[in-house]
Amino acid sequence: MGKAPDGYELLKVLCSPKLIKDANREVATMSGLTDADIVFQSYGRCNSSATFYDDFYEAFTGKSPAIAEKFVNTNMTRQQVMLRGGIKWLLTYALGMLDAKLQELGKSHSRGGLNILPEWYDLWVEALMETVAKHDPKYTTELDDQWRRVMKPGIDLIKSHY
Ligand code: HEM
Repeated sequence: MGKAPDGYELLKVLCSPKLIKDANREVATMSGLTDADIVFQSYGRCNSSATFYDDFYEAFTGKSPAIAEKFVNTNMTRQQVMLRGGIKWLLTYALGMLDAKLQELGKSHSRGGLNILPEWYDLWVEALMETVAKHDPKYTTELDDQWRRVMKPGIDLIKSHY
């Protein structure tokens, strides 16, 4: 058994997930697309899927009985307002829009209002990402990271009002 050629070692390094991830990010940056742009495009693909919001709602309320309980008096239209509007405000904030709407959401979701526990936002994100994985044909784990990175500042802002 001879020693593996240097080229093989090099290939192993070049194929490491971390390096591929960094390289993908680099390409995206070079093409002028930010994470927020890429996530916005993914959101567009999800939106064109007829059952995206129903699936998200089902995934989210399935995470905990306490969450399902919060929506017992919510009708379908309001559900859509929350899901559609919610994602839209988080993404537009990431694209540099004003934070006024998120401040408002922070207040409506705070303990004096809807009383949404801070830990529930993690379940919201998990449910959303499961749904994106199901509906975006271009879903990758890198895209998953990008979604989470892009939404985090907006979610932190909402939570900070609790
Ligand atoms: C970052 C995550 C979230 C966003 C962007 C968001 C966004 C929204 C929006 C836009 C509304 C519509 C009413 C309003 O303007 O206040 C709403 C309502 C609501 N949200 Fe959220 N939300 C989030 C997380 C959560 C979580 C984790 C829960 C936990 C149960 C929750 C429960 C509710 C409830 C109960 C309503 C009222 C529904 C009704 O009208 O009956 N939200 N949310």
